[in-house]
Amino acid sequence: MIPVILSGGSGTRLWPLSRKLFPKQFIALTGEQTLFQQTVQRLKKEGIQAPLIVCNQEHRFIVNEQLDAIACKPQTVIMEPFGRNTAPAVAIAAIELLSKGRDDLLLVLPADHVIKDTKAFHEALATAQIAAEDDQMVLFGVEPDSPETGYGYIQTGPELELKKANNAGLKSAARSVRCFVEKPDYETACRYLASGDYYWNSGMFLFKASKYLSELKVHDPDIYETCKLALENGLRSDNVISIDPKSFEFCPENSIDYAVMEKTEGACVVPLSAQWSDVGSWSSLWDVHDKDDQGNVKKGDVLLHDSRNCFVQGNGKLVTLLGLEDTVVVETKDAVMIAHKDKVQDVKKLVNSLNAES
Ligand code: GDD
Ligand code: MG
Repeated sequence: MIPVILSGGSGTRLWPLSRKLFPKQFIALTGEQTLFQQTVQRLKKEGIQAPLIVCNQEHRFIVNEQLDAIACKPQTVIMEPFGRNTAPAVAIAAIELLSKGRDDLLLVLPADHVIKDTKAFHEALATAQIAAEDDQMVLFGVEPDSPETGYGYIQTGPELELKKANNAGLKSAARSVRCFVEKPDYETACRYLASGDYYWNSGMFLFKASKYLSELKVHDPDIYETCKLALENGLRSDNVISIDPKSFEFCPENSIDYAVMEKTEGACVVPLSAQWSDVGSWSSLWDVHDKDDQGNVKKGDVLLHDSRNCFVQGNGKLVTLLGLEDTVVVETKDAVMIAHKDKVQDVKKLVNSLNAES
């Protein structure tokens, strides 16, 4: 099993901390190590090989530095000149491995997730491995607790009968996928949540490299063809591959969820109950942190009075709050952001308007 770590996103909803040149996956948001380093560390286990990293070329020095700091030698670092979303990033990794005659299981992992219960994660992987060896495309499903519109939703069907599964002492079963819907609107998400019949897609996948590519060739052949060319025309030195920008420019931009997972009939879901969070926004970062007895998360030099359920992060200055609830305050060297916790999904809009002005 080879982890393919997707680290090309820009994490705009965690502005002003997360920046294009230094996005959230490379920041120590929830401990000593960055989310990217935690993702790699989680994989130190027998049977899991050194990871293949797919990142933006602007981040190559950060990637090297952060891997060195945890003594990880990746098998390959693939650098994209620009992002074309996740379907091409995974395609390039799969084509590269198959070109070496290796049809490994690819464990596709976003570099920016928090998983507190590593043991439960490895237990889910054990079930997933059996399903993926049976030619399934495995999605890891998380039980939803709110009508999030930024996630994919999976409706499950009956349990799958897997070869080998009976005597393997597995903690969970794989179920067939009845349907997969990426990022539904709010009303639909509410309906899915109320039905109790759906999982969230965690954005982590396990499948054979050949299985992914055969599905991609059916559902989005242009991505397959352009990625193949961009890899062939890329530059190689040691274990680093720079994708050819001229060929990659023609690659359609699409996520693995829209391009393949919504369309395939070959997917199954393995439940994951491992205190997973994609820390996609300031409110989910508040969720995963320890809080004081008023429900506040305080980082840096912070003084709160008569305030509840706030997330406050200072950076040098003393930050004080009086009589506020559900408020996010983040101070960085060059910006201060203050938002209501219910509005933090819109930080993306704030960043878009800043970009439009500059
Ligand atoms: N190399 C590379 N290139 N990585 C990328 C690119 C790219 O062009 N675009 C995004 N990524 C990385 C991001 O850094 C992140 O780690 C991961 O791929 C997923 O991309 P996101 O942009 O964060 O996806 P999402 O959060 O909107 O949706 C996905 O994750 C949800 C759970 O967090 C989907 O899989 C949803 O279905 C899922 O529910
Ligand atoms: Mg995400």
